[in-house]
Amino acid sequence: MYLRYVSLLFPLFFHEISGIPNEKPIIIIGAGPAGIAAATRLLENGIDNILILEAEPRIGGRIYSTKFGDTNVDMGAMWCHGQEGNIVWEKLVDMNLTDLVRSTQHPRTFHISSRKELGKDFEQKLYDIMMEILDSEQAEENESVGFAFGKMYNKSITEQFGNDREKLNYARAASKWLEHVTMSIEGSLSWYDSKSKTTYEECGGNQHLNWRGPGYKIFLDILMKKYPTGSNPLPIDDKILLSKEVTKVLWNPAATRNRVEIACADGSSYVASHVVFTPSLGVLKERGEEMFVPRLPERKMIAIKRVGMGAVMKVFLHYPRRWWRDEVAFNLVWDENDRKNVRNEFTQGPWMNGESWITRLYSIEMLEENPKVLLVWITGDVVPALENTDEKTLLSGIEFTLKKFLGHLYDIPKPDKVLRSNWYSNPHFRGSYSFQSLSSTDNNIPDLLEPLRTSNGSYIIQFAGEATSPTHFSTVQGAVESGYREADRLIGLYKYPLLINSLVH
Ligand SMILES: Cc1cc2nc3c(=O)[nH]c(=O)nc-3n(C[C@H](O)[C@H](O)[C@H](O)COP(=O)(O)OP(=O)(O)OC[C@H]3O[C@@H](n4cnc5c(N)ncnc54)[C@H](O)[C@@H]3O)c2cc1C
Ligand SMILES: *[C@@H]1O[C@H](CO)[C@@H](O)[C@H](O)[C@H]1NC(C)=O
Ligand SMILES: *[C@@H]1O[C@H](CO)[C@@H](O)[C@H](O)[C@H]1NC(C)=O
Ligand SMILES: *[C@@H]1O[C@H](CO)[C@@H](O)[C@H](O)[C@H]1NC(C)=O
Ligand SMILES: *[C@@H]1O[C@H](CO)[C@@H](O)[C@H](O)[C@H]1NC(C)=O
Repeated sequence: MYLRYVSLLFPLFFHEISGIPNEKPIIIIGAGPAGIAAATRLLENGIDNILILEAEPRIGGRIYSTKFGDTNVDMGAMWCHGQEGNIVWEKLVDMNLTDLVRSTQHPRTFHISSRKELGKDFEQKLYDIMMEILDSEQAEENESVGFAFGKMYNKSITEQFGNDREKLNYARAASKWLEHVTMSIEGSLSWYDSKSKTTYEECGGNQHLNWRGPGYKIFLDILMKKYPTGSNPLPIDDKILLSKEVTKVLWNPAATRNRVEIACADGSSYVASHVVFTPSLGVLKERGEEMFVPRLPERKMIAIKRVGMGAVMKVFLHYPRRWWRDEVAFNLVWDENDRKNVRNEFTQGPWMNGESWITRLYSIEMLEENPKVLLVWITGDVVPALENTDEKTLLSGIEFTLKKFLGHLYDIPKPDKVLRSNWYSNPHFRGSYSFQSLSSTDNNIPDLLEPLRTSNGSYIIQFAGEATSPTHFSTVQGAVESGYREADRLIGLYKYPLLINSLVH
């Protein structure tokens, strides 16, 4: 009777998941850190009737370590942010940490396009002003981070350099550097998009623990107990189906049995009693409205709209030889005149507000383990357009910029290999990480994570992923915590059904 009802409502061909003996299969959508954390938690608790559907041909999601140069590089997450109360760090305590992470150093100096030298002391003072602002806790309700930081920065530089025209001008130009670093932290396309006062809680300790050669991917191996070698790996591999893009999630709130039908882009379909949905907020923004039948509750739709998602871009360059000296990174500051003049000097590729995309290039990092590779960071408004710009244009812009800033210091060869990210254009991500936008409110994240329930209150579709973490959104630790949170709901349901019954009724 029920089956007929369902197939009338949703005329969809579907079949039961084969090889799952239990009556209550759990399907996890997405094999990023949230999905993998949820699966490993279930497996560790003896629940192995699970299946993971992953759209990409690889696992890991926004953890994406891939071979480039001498080691792996991280196209996505690359740092463990903090130690205190950080679930990622806690997983490492029994390991040989020197093998896994190291502390990133930061250059406290700048290169300016005018090549003017105002002294290392001045540059370090400027850098300290910026770091103090980035660390500051004072923030007002409904104020954008751009406005709040801009105000503090303007005040500090006027106080410190007010009677030195040249330094003040340099410092004004350098505010763009602060702007780009802020956008790399927020993941927003403008620093006026994100709120300065949010529910984010920083884990204390070192914010930039860099993964060594294997990259962040090794953390997934730790979750799956594949690392260190010799431990007992969890049987997760044969539960993951790759290149399975979910297009529809159908459920019936009034049914008497928990039953969700999942349709995939390749024409296959699956049935589950419980679904844990982990794709990014970007995916929900683009497809959330039509993916779920019936439509997601209004509160969740509002949250999906209001919580922000932008993108950052990384370009890795491999050179035939290491041409730079012992620096840690090049922090680039565009002189105000150069910023205008470059319009006539370099005309290829996208423009934003009448400015060339190359003025959005603000930091070029060296990688300790990978001596011939540079990492170019680009943040802000130009990222979506730049992801779709051809490689030749991208490379000639980077080459132009390097010559402009460093041509008098170095003889710079052409790179022989390039690797670039496309988080914004990839339909399985549509952005890099979430942020609290100016229009978001504190109840938005709780609304995002709220499970869908059947009429008797039982969970049927649950939501995990970075963006559903009220305190650690935008990070891997937030994603992992959210996966554990949703696995724990299911463990409660499966292992202590009587307790749950009495809570629900
Ligand atoms: C450039 C960049 C730098 C970052 N740097 C850091 C950092 O240094 N430190 C840090 O802590 N965090 C960093 N992050 C953030 C971190 O990577 C994310 O917070 C985290 O990976 C999110 O995990 P998740 O499981 O929530 O989502 P994801 O990693 O996005 O996993 C979701 C999975 O769902 C899959 N999926 C999507 N749509 C579908 C569909 N329709 N059907 C089936 N599967 C689907 C995706 O392919 C993906 O594998 C960075 C992210 C980026 C992009
Ligand atoms: C940890 O790793 C480092 C570097 O690989 C090595 O020198 C050291 O001996 C290791 N320590 C232990 C306890 O295994
Ligand atoms: C901040 O904005 C929200 C939503 O726009 C509003 O509800 C709230 O009252 C505002 N708070 C302040 C202090 O202005
Ligand atoms: C800070 O000063 C710049 C000019 O250097 C100005 O454009 C900006 O609006 C100021 N920011 C704030 C918040 O006052
Ligand atoms: C609640 O209803 C679902 C079907 O919607 C059913 O599968 C589940 O067993 C019920 N749970 C309880 C506690 O009655």
